[in-house]
Amino acid sequence: MQYRGLLAQYRALLNLPAHTRPITLLEGNTPLIPAPHLAHELGGGFELFIKYEGLNPTGSFKDRGMTAAISEAAGRGVTTVICASTGNTAASAAAYASRAGMKSIVLIPQGKVAAGKLAGAVAYGAQVVQIDGSFDDALAMVVEISNKHPIALVNSINPYRIEGQKTAAFEICDVLGQSPEWLCLPVGNAGNITAYWAGFRQYNDLKWCGLPRLLGVQAAGAAPLVLGHPVEKPETVATAIRIGKPARGEQALEAADESDGRIIAVSDEEILHMQKILAKLEGIWVEPASAAGLAGLAHQVVHEKLDLRGKRIVAICTGHGLKDPDIVTKGLHQPILVAPRLDALEQVILGEGKAT
Ligand code: F0G
Repeated sequence: MQYRGLLAQYRALLNLPAHTRPITLLEGNTPLIPAPHLAHELGGGFELFIKYEGLNPTGSFKDRGMTAAISEAAGRGVTTVICASTGNTAASAAAYASRAGMKSIVLIPQGKVAAGKLAGAVAYGAQVVQIDGSFDDALAMVVEISNKHPIALVNSINPYRIEGQKTAAFEICDVLGQSPEWLCLPVGNAGNITAYWAGFRQYNDLKWCGLPRLLGVQAAGAAPLVLGHPVEKPETVATAIRIGKPARGEQALEAADESDGRIIAVSDEEILHMQKILAKLEGIWVEPASAAGLAGLAHQVVHEKLDLRGKRIVAICTGHGLKDPDIVTKGLHQPILVAPRLDALEQVILGEGKAT
């Protein structure tokens, strides 16, 4: 049977009002890819899977929440939606709003949004407004404006975003037959970790699939949940999670605590290293923020001697590498140039007759 999108798949488990009118791009149903080489690199003896959320229609996990939020808004006749975003929410909101025939307005922090995300928001037809400030400033502004005008807010403060994003937990349990022992994922505004925990708890109540321990990972320069206070000027190469005052921070801390897990911080170097080895060892290219969950796992193994033997781990890779190509090409020398002759090519790739 043809896959008809998340709302069709899991509607009975989602707390959405009766007026909801499904707007879908057939999001979700993303693959859970085994990562044996990376597991080996991290010491081996455990099973590692990547939930590759970059394969959603607009290239990030936001589409799960957006199908729910936009469908609810469409069902009550909303004509304009707004969000603050580090980029992925913007692209997703713009795509789903266009599909619903709505206008979308997206507020982004000036100069800190990766090229593929901004291009998406523009291509899908959003009105893009740069704020001379941070994501946190932009979020405060969209909250205020949506209280004042008939414009629907589609950030993850919107409860329907969480309903949609819960479905990733359902999919993991459906594929594995039970929850993994650990779930690692990046944490920015903290909607996603909140959604996963809600999803696993709901599925466990229904199907006794167990609960994972949550490893939420922030970037060291934007780690309010690790520091225990807001960060006024968050900084990280992982611009998606460059957030100093997470809207669902309390819930994220509760979820980590209830699951007997933790929220930790990793350096930009650890994030970029993980992004690189994931692509190199497994052929999975993700944007920097998306590598943070795995970087956190590696950090726990190396520095905290976390014992993973015999365990099953799922890492959520939230966005596609194509979202942020500049990170990879920035320090790159131009690829080598050869004359269009076979001998010239042989010289370069075989050297003195030997393949390297
Ligand atoms: N990974 C990526 C690729 C993201 O874009 C985000 C958040 C996160 C992880 C963190 O998820 O906020 O639910 O804790 N991006 C938001 C945005 C803030 O505007 O696109 P979270």
